[in-house]
Amino acid sequence: MKSSDGFEIEQLDTVRVQMGDQSCDLPLIEGSEGERALDISRLRAETGAITLDEGFVNTGSTRSAITFLDGEKGVLRYRGYPIEKLAASCDFIETAFLLIYGELPNAKEIETFRAGIREHTMLHQDMKSFYNGFPRDAHPMAILASVVGALSTFYQDSLDLDDDRQVEISIYRLLAKLPTIAAYSYKKSIGQPFMYPKNSLDYTENFLHMMFATPTEEYELDPDFAEALNLLLIVHADHEQNCSTSTVRMVGSSNANLFASISAGISALWGPLHGGANEACVNMLEQIARDGGDVKKYVDMAKDKDNPFRLMGFGHRVYKNFDPRATIIRACCDKLLDKLNLDDPLFEVAQQLQEVALKDEYFIERKLYPNVDFYSGVIYRALGIPVQMFTVLFAIGRLPGWIAHWREMHNSPGFRINRPRQIYTGHTERNVTPLESR
Ligand code: SDX
Repeated sequence: MKSSDGFEIEQLDTVRVQMGDQSCDLPLIEGSEGERALDISRLRAETGAITLDEGFVNTGSTRSAITFLDGEKGVLRYRGYPIEKLAASCDFIETAFLLIYGELPNAKEIETFRAGIREHTMLHQDMKSFYNGFPRDAHPMAILASVVGALSTFYQDSLDLDDDRQVEISIYRLLAKLPTIAAYSYKKSIGQPFMYPKNSLDYTENFLHMMFATPTEEYELDPDFAEALNLLLIVHADHEQNCSTSTVRMVGSSNANLFASISAGISALWGPLHGGANEACVNMLEQIARDGGDVKKYVDMAKDKDNPFRLMGFGHRVYKNFDPRATIIRACCDKLLDKLNLDDPLFEVAQQLQEVALKDEYFIERKLYPNVDFYSGVIYRALGIPVQMFTVLFAIGRLPGWIAHWREMHNSPGFRINRPRQIYTGHTERNVTPLESR
């Protein structure tokens, strides 16, 4: 059965909802992986009632053909390809193409895509003055959200979302410029001159070059660093309807341009309950290390209902098993630290913390496992990335996913502005008391 928005869904049955003398037969639909949903599109029209689901724990906002998660089994697939296979055999730009356009590119397609990105890596010179306006200690996520939003002022020739060619150019501009914008925010924070992108380098090499090269010295790229960064970007590339992706869809549903929609997604990702958890996790590991490495003390704090402390990098709304990305990242940690002959005490603390927590009834009962943010910070540290830039790296990785969802939404035949309802619990009607009597 073709749904209104063109994605294959199967109607299994109807479910009768009875409210007093009112009833409504709602379609029970099933997706390609056997997930089932009650389609409540007609509920309010036929019964006057709506549903309420704080935090959207049980609510699907859309159909999507981009990413599939099975939280119970710890499965993650981009367009049907298991994350483990993509991480082992593709690079980040191939993965970005797959997420955005739906298929792995052939040799000609990927060359065109890479060339399109290379063409747009530089920022308009006047945009560099933005950085002078930020305080030295500005958080790079604030800079990223601001400068990405401002792209719409410098690139007004690619804002028309009904013109496929303009959408394509804005996709190239975002993929190409985000690493440049990010690296400039780091250079600003350390008072070093901005390094222009070097298009003879590949995507991750170029970013490392802009981050760590200086005009005075030859910068020697470590291929292990570029390889580790490539893997990190792939595992962060998409994750279905997470908070920041849902934000991009929400903002994009008003027909706001792609730059504005991505800027909103960056702001949503910043929160420590979401993408900001990687920065918060390393700060937590450092605190535990400073405190003598007493992981049990912190596990007990996380269990204490009267203590707001949580184990950052632990738990997930969907995964009730190991986050497959955490498994991949942890293996990369092992390999990179070994290759660099680095002995990061935080990696030791993280492994001890995981061991203690996973044996604890509180975590077992709530199915709390390490998530993507638990080990990623250890690799970023090994790459020399400063803590405040961790979530920026997450944003660079997640950008293709945000773009893919924004594009899927706009290409969906059932596309309409997102406008949730509410249940009002405030005052019923009352009269205004004149000021002199209040
Ligand atoms: C990301 O959605 C995505 O896909 C996100 C993401 C992506 O790729 O886009 O995967 C990236 O954001 C990963 C998550 C990063 N955040 C953190 O690591 C922050 C720490 N974790 C949490 O705060 C929490 O686990 C969330 C926010 C991730 C999930 O929150 P939920 O689903 O709303 O779960 P909850 O807060 O209702 O917790 C359920 C129970 C509660 O205990 P009870 O009230 O049942 O007694 O588990 C407890 C929570 O107190 N709990 C934790 C905990 N996480 C949940 N207790 C201690 N430490 C934790 N980390």
